[in-house]
Amino acid sequence: MNKSIIWGLLIATVLLSCHSKVTDGSEKAPASKNYNEAHRPQFHFSPQANWMNDPNGMVYHDGEYHLFYQYYPDSNVWGPMHWGHAVSKDMVYWEHLPVAIEPDSLGWIFSGSAVFDAANSSGLGTPENPPLLAIYTYHDPEGADAGRNDFQTQGIAYSLDKGRTWEKYPNNPVLDNPGIRDFRDPKVTQITSSGEDKWIMSLAVKDKISFYSSDNLLDWKHESDFNPDWAAYGGVWECPDLFPLTSPEGEQKWVLLVSINPGGPNRGSATQYFVGDFDGERFTTDQASVKWLDYGADNYAGVTWSNIPDSDGRRLFIGWMSNWMYANVVPTQVWRSANTLPRSLELYSVDQEYHLASRPVKELEMLRVESQEISGQTIALEQELVELQLRTNAADFMLEFSNPAGERVSLEKKRKTFFLDRTQSGLVDFNKEFPAKHSAPLGDLEIEDLQIFLDRSSIEIFINQGELVMTELVFPRESYSQLQLQGFENKNQLHYLNSIW
Ligand code: FRU
Repeated sequence: MNKSIIWGLLIATVLLSCHSKVTDGSEKAPASKNYNEAHRPQFHFSPQANWMNDPNGMVYHDGEYHLFYQYYPDSNVWGPMHWGHAVSKDMVYWEHLPVAIEPDSLGWIFSGSAVFDAANSSGLGTPENPPLLAIYTYHDPEGADAGRNDFQTQGIAYSLDKGRTWEKYPNNPVLDNPGIRDFRDPKVTQITSSGEDKWIMSLAVKDKISFYSSDNLLDWKHESDFNPDWAAYGGVWECPDLFPLTSPEGEQKWVLLVSINPGGPNRGSATQYFVGDFDGERFTTDQASVKWLDYGADNYAGVTWSNIPDSDGRRLFIGWMSNWMYANVVPTQVWRSANTLPRSLELYSVDQEYHLASRPVKELEMLRVESQEISGQTIALEQELVELQLRTNAADFMLEFSNPAGERVSLEKKRKTFFLDRTQSGLVDFNKEFPAKHSAPLGDLEIEDLQIFLDRSSIEIFINQGELVMTELVFPRESYSQLQLQGFENKNQLHYLNSIW
């Protein structure tokens, strides 16, 4: 090989290995023709290629937000699950890392969580170098095919090098299946009960959540089950998450997230939540009706990061931005699925009842490249990555994004309901459930402000600082370049945003 070819190859290798490098926001990753396919989100996380579903194992450790995810590296449709991996210093810019956990003789690697075992309670690290632990579901496809009921068990892998490489625990599984087909998605959290640290696992068991406890993350004891009569049971329960939250009034409550598929408020997949108390063994609530984390069709299987430092104090969430009704057939080829924007979950109360708000994290503000005040009814969008901050005091209002091809997505408040209509939003006929007008009941909620993020193939709407949220996919053939507003105040903000890739 002559010298110039060798140099060419070297430069190409360096460019390829840098193009998704994490930055702290001050340094932008070099442009790449990758991550720029039609519909490819520009400020949401998506895998470099192939299929992704649930976010998994989210843990903050040593200055990095780890994001693992259900991943099938060999195809753009769901299949034998692995844990893909990425890290970020700010939840905005992501660095892709190699697949972290691969299937083995016990099965495929389904959803689960990760914790930092700081006291080395598992003994899988050393006191000087305590481990990160991933707790996940083994799904044995042969057992499933053979019609057995016990094909899902819980296993553990650990890392002693900041999550870069993972070893499986040799005595897996750590939790056997008692003969229940749906027995999965362990989410582990550390609590202090009677002065002692212990680990609590929330597990989705068909149509209930079971809680287990452990001192060492390896031996688990069943404590209790949660499945109140009035909860949503339209489908199987999946991906629980249990965590404490302090209300603005200073009261400590516990929140339980439970994803359900199907049976969501706008059909298909969605996440319900419960606000209550956890005494170290049992979760109880005074709540008496179903509450939804997000009324949109495309926020599923979301859970929160573990090990966020107390100095930060937020409860940080990310969801899978799709819906099992059509996830496998959305019109993208190179990759399939992205995550929602990262959100901070916070309690707010109305008439002495707690609800959960989802607020876009403040780190997202670093994406703003150009901001302007907008007024009037028709606004030309000069760039495609958009954040809007709108104020209204009108009884009813309407907002529409459209493109010259006549494709449009509209949002509307009419009396006590908020609507999102994507029937003519672009490519819609890949699945009969996709073109739909979705709604969210407002009850007594008076809408004062909306924050909206538009990123090529998604729209996320945060009403009154996330008190009501809708996350939805759209696939316009060309960017929406016009915005129509009716019923808003005169001073609104439009921000154009950067791409993270
Ligand atoms: C939720 C889910 C989980 C399961 C995983 C499999 O979307 O069905 O219950 O662990 O996906 O990929």
